[in-house]
Amino acid sequence: MEGLIAIIFLCFVASPFFPETITAQPGPIFNVLDFGAAGDGKTDDSQAFLKAWTNVCNSTQGKPSTLLIPEGKTFMLQPVLFQGPCKPSSIYFWINGTIIAPASVNAWKWPDDDMDAWIRFLEVYRLHVRGNGTFDGQGAPWWDCFAKNQCQRPQALSFHKCASLELVGFRVVNSPGGHISVDDCQGSNISNVRLDAPQDSPNTDGIDIANSSNVVVAHSSMQLGDDCIAIDGGSSFINITGIFCGPGHGISIGSLGKDGSYAQVEEIHVRNCTFTRTSNGARIKTWKGGSGFARKITFEDMILVEAQHPVIIDQNYRAYSPKDDDNKAVKVSDVTFRNFQGTAASENAIQLLCDRVIGCTNIVLDQIHITSSVPGKTADASCLNAHGKSSPSNVPQAQCLLT
Ligand SMILES: *[C@@H]1O[C@H](CO)[C@@H](O)[C@H](O)[C@H]1NC(C)=O
Ligand SMILES: *[C@@H]1O[C@H](CO)[C@@H](O)[C@H](O)[C@H]1NC(C)=O
Ligand SMILES: *[C@@H]1O[C@H](CO)[C@@H](O)[C@H](O)[C@H]1NC(C)=O
Ligand SMILES: *[C@@H]1O[C@H](CO)[C@@H](O)[C@H](O)[C@H]1NC(C)=O
Ligand SMILES: *[C@@H]1O[C@H](CO)[C@@H](O)[C@H](O)[C@H]1NC(C)=O
Ligand SMILES: *[C@@H]1O[C@H](CO)[C@@H](O)[C@H](O)[C@H]1NC(C)=O
Ligand SMILES: *[C@@H]1O[C@H](CO)[C@@H](O)[C@H](O)[C@H]1NC(C)=O
Repeated sequence: MEGLIAIIFLCFVASPFFPETITAQPGPIFNVLDFGAAGDGKTDDSQAFLKAWTNVCNSTQGKPSTLLIPEGKTFMLQPVLFQGPCKPSSIYFWINGTIIAPASVNAWKWPDDDMDAWIRFLEVYRLHVRGNGTFDGQGAPWWDCFAKNQCQRPQALSFHKCASLELVGFRVVNSPGGHISVDDCQGSNISNVRLDAPQDSPNTDGIDIANSSNVVVAHSSMQLGDDCIAIDGGSSFINITGIFCGPGHGISIGSLGKDGSYAQVEEIHVRNCTFTRTSNGARIKTWKGGSGFARKITFEDMILVEAQHPVIIDQNYRAYSPKDDDNKAVKVSDVTFRNFQGTAASENAIQLLCDRVIGCTNIVLDQIHITSSVPGKTADASCLNAHGKSSPSNVPQAQCLLT
């Protein structure tokens, strides 16, 4: 048992755990220092990185190829695009050192019109980003100008159009916007990453997944200002396990169906996560007026430490868009919340608020034991047109659930 605890400790606290196969790396290694990167934290090293990338991406067909960001150095990068497809059989982006963004909003220089992320990987297949280094988005000045309504903010890392993506071991801190975005990617493993931003940093999501399937997010820790993980439209077969979330807004499906759009999400399995002082826990949010579905979703084996709203379905999320249509909503069905243990910091521990007309179906609550963390208060359940079943032994009893 002590050995097990030690291993867990090593995995999650000390340094990331790399299986043996992961450290093996045949093929050429391109060190950014050999391409003129200064690594002093001030010089703009973007061109050096892009030169190294050209070599990595263009090196021998059929073999792996590695871009190395050595440890002990800090590299300042402007927004960069690492474009594929590449020739090697796989690409390793080893981040052992630190990469930082420009220190002020005005110091950012955008190379093209696409200003949605700081570091972008586009059409890079079989990409492995590994190492115990850090991406530091220096987001504080962006949060300020966003709060004053003076700017839109980029995400830190964006992976767009990919397959067989692996992200392991590194940290992303203080992103201006979301920390990691995985969009239009088939087959991704994300593990042992750590994402940090202050609790009051606006909309700093941890991982945003959209239009992707076969994604595993495991053994990672996130403390930030918005959703730890958000699963957006077009996603299916997503497994999330062993996540420590909080502060943050929990793990969310959605929001789906904004501005009357169509969205489909299914086969989402979230297991064995801990929500510590999060505003929400397991959440599904869909906009009024949207269409499509969110179905076959399970949240199980959750530990709650003073989470405000541990269980939420909101089928009327921000119903104020002009395109909102009273007779439309994203269908929510076949959702199971099983084995939730711990405390809620608000009285509304379970909220199943579905559309008055469309409603939600087959919502299952089982092995729920949630008590209030506020002395003298009770944790309750409330529902609106939610259908399904709640086990009689649940605390609180969700008697508001309709059959
Ligand atoms: C690969 O090399 C070719 C010429 O050898 C060049 O035209 C192409 O732009 C390079 N690709 C990348 C991604 O750098
Ligand atoms: C750094 O990168 C190299 C890749 O050359 C890797 O083999 C090594 O294990 C990495 N980690 C550290 C801590 O240096
Ligand atoms: C990464 O690993 C190396 C080698 O184990 C270690 O020297 C270094 O301090 C680690 N870096 C961080 C940021 O933990
Ligand atoms: C993801 O993990 C699974 C199971 O460990 C493995 O079979 C698969 O090859 C991994 N994919 C990538 C891209 O690392
Ligand atoms: C997700 O977990 C289920 C079992 O819980 C498993 O059957 C499935 O293969 C997993 N999917 C992925 C993408 O790992
Ligand atoms: C998914 O892709 C479709 C088609 O490209 C696009 O219309 C939609 O906005 C995307 N959804 C998300 C959540 O990115
Ligand atoms: C649950 O997650 C924790 C933290 O990642 C891990 O230590 C533990 O082994 C996991 N338990 C199960 C049953 O998967």
